[in-house]
Amino acid sequence: MNDTVAACRFCGSALETDFVDLGSMPLANNFITRDKLDKPEPHYPLHVKLCTKCLLVQHNAIVSPENIFTDYPYFSSYSAAWCEQARRYALTAKQRLGLGPASRVVEIGSNDGYLLRHFVELGIPVLGIDPARNVAEVARAAGVPTETRFFGAAAARDLVARGCAADLVVANNVLAHVPDINDAIAGLKLVLKPGGVFTAEFPHLLRLIREVQFDTIYHEHFFYYSIMVLERILSRHGLRIFNVEELPSHGGSLRIFACHQEDPTHAEEPGLSRVRAAEEEAGMDRIEAYAGFAARVKEARSALLAFLDEATRRMAKRVVGFGAAAKGSTLLNVCGVDGSQVDYVVDETPAKRGKYLPGSHLPIVGIEAVRRTRPDYILILAWNHKDEIMRKLAYVREWGGRFVVPLPRATVLG
Ligand code: TYD
Repeated sequence: MNDTVAACRFCGSALETDFVDLGSMPLANNFITRDKLDKPEPHYPLHVKLCTKCLLVQHNAIVSPENIFTDYPYFSSYSAAWCEQARRYALTAKQRLGLGPASRVVEIGSNDGYLLRHFVELGIPVLGIDPARNVAEVARAAGVPTETRFFGAAAARDLVARGCAADLVVANNVLAHVPDINDAIAGLKLVLKPGGVFTAEFPHLLRLIREVQFDTIYHEHFFYYSIMVLERILSRHGLRIFNVEELPSHGGSLRIFACHQEDPTHAEEPGLSRVRAAEEEAGMDRIEAYAGFAARVKEARSALLAFLDEATRRMAKRVVGFGAAAKGSTLLNVCGVDGSQVDYVVDETPAKRGKYLPGSHLPIVGIEAVRRTRPDYILILAWNHKDEIMRKLAYVREWGGRFVVPLPRATVLG
């Protein structure tokens, strides 16, 4: 069933304006085992719309979250940079919010416990909530109490009734993932103690547009947020953003700090006005700022295909991909790349290795394949980890291997 929604998931207005239509795509994290290679793969429309009333950018496909999130191949702990960011966050949050043994930190979408384990080490009680059984098991084994469930108002009421209201609620890379955004934010409002702080991280729509990061658009990501739209959403549910930090993760993310609307203790900080000003300067309060994105996606796609054609067909060079990230799936599928252009994709996540990327069916192999096959070009699909990947694979230069980033325009590095 390829149904779509006709109304904005936040404000209910008709969704009539296109942001970009990426066609019909398989689920980006639906890695395929060898025995399923010949079976048909479910495809869903990946059509992103702009709500012209509230300016929330969202795709309109109806995809059941159970289909996407109950067995999740994404383990946050595999990125060293990500783990370091989590460690620093926990230390700072403890100091700034004065958290201790009588406090509680609740994380929505707590994955394998990559963040909460740092609070556990600091002696602060935690509770993780994640619908994916496989990652939650890893978290529990690491000493992070984790409940396997979806979060919303009903779950929040249950947590509060059990005495699990939170001094700090964290939701990193989650606000984009919950189709019923009103229910999720209503839940956050309920689970947050008076005087509590809510922080969330999400990729910034301003960066997506500016840097043509169309590969970060996939079914898991129902929403693409600006700060101005998120302020509107939180405000409707009685929450207020008082600070914003800009982070390098996922190609440019924002970390918001919010509290109850009526909480007088948190004055607005300069980070918030800085990001608001950047968005206003980019015209994101007007519909025109969103037009033209589709054309830039088309140009980026042509440039990547031209590079692959030149490298593989004319120069007989060998290209391999690095990072079987969801964004890699999307990039390859939107561009129609197949095994004639890219031999394989390296990924160190054990759960992905030996499988095949959805759609393109490129095989996912371990990192040792690089030394063995000595490719000419490493196409960095997980470009948000570019520096870490280039450091790790610095040895490809021994045989003249070079790195390529696919976006905003395919570019061979150095
Ligand atoms: P990421 O960009 O974090 O996720 P997504 O686009 O799915 O949200 O995914 C990075 C992928 O790259 C992940 O599958 C792990 C892999 N990876 C490695 O295998 N080795 C590495 O050194 C790094 C940095 C990433």
